[in-house]
This record gives sequence, C-alpha cells and structure tokens, in this order.
Amino acid sequence: MIDFEPSELAETIEENGEGASLISVLEEIQARYRYLPQAAMVLVSERFGVPLSQVYSVATFYHSFSLTPRGKHTISVCTGTACHVRGAVQVLNRLETTLDVQPNETTRDRQFTLETVNCLGCCALGPVVVLDNEYEGQVTTKKVDKLLKRAMRQAGGEQ
Ligand code: FES
Repeated sequence: MIDFEPSELAETIEENGEGASLISVLEEIQARYRYLPQAAMVLVSERFGVPLSQVYSVATFYHSFSLTPRGKHTISVCTGTACHVRGAVQVLNRLETTLDVQPNETTRDRQFTLETVNCLGCCALGPVVVLDNEYEGQVTTKKVDKLLKRAMRQAGGEQ
C-alpha cells in the first residue's frame, strides 16, 4: 500500500527545482503515488500560493492525472459497438468477477485498475483489451484468465 508522506512532497518540489511548474510537480506526485492524494494537492496549493480550486482544475483537466488510487497495472476493455457485439460484455464481466472491481476501480492490493474505453480504432480485432499499453485482440473469457495470470505473475515479481 502506498501512502502519501507530506515530507516527501517537499523533496519532490525540491527535486523539481525552484522554478518548477505546478504541472511538473503534479506529474511527479502522480508518477510516485500513481494518483494525486488530496493532502498533496493542499500542500501544492500552499507551496505555489494558488487557490486549491486551481490545483483541482489542473488535476481534473488532464486525463493523465487521477484523484483516486490507481493500480500498478491498467486493464482497459473496449466497449465500443464492434467490440460489444463480439463479446466485450462477457470479457468485462470476467474481469470484474476475477478482480472483484467495477470499471474505474482499483483492486485492494493496488495492483490493477479496470477501466472501459470507447473504440480504440482496431475494431476488426474486437473484442479488444489493453493491458499496460499492450493490445490483445479477439479476447475471450479464457484469454482473460491467461492475461490475468500473466499479469499477476509479473505483479508478483515486481513487488
Ligand atoms: S469498437 Fe473496440 S476497437 Fe473499435
């Protein structure tokens, strides 16, 4: 479990230099914790002397920032029309059941975040699942099991 340490924020800001931009510090926090803890945003607001609402506005504008904890691995299921008619729902159900999460949730051990996306532009391969930027096409529930086993093995080895 990763917990936010306020003292580390000062280090993060120092590492980014005096002239660091608000975005670069938020990026560093996101990279370190895989999300932007509320306490971190409050400290950033104080450090930069800008309203907290401005920090939130930046944090929610960019898709790369998350306000909730993210897993070490991201699994995205395409639920666009072509993937939907080819079985994306069954694939998604299998992932939800196995990981015990709903879309946009992260497993308790913070290993996996499950999300859904609309058309990835490779409809002929549907249903498509993306695991940490690696595309898997024609995914079945059996293939989901294999994918998860592989990812869990990797996750186990990366502790
Ligand atoms: S609908 Fe899934 S890739 Fe287009």
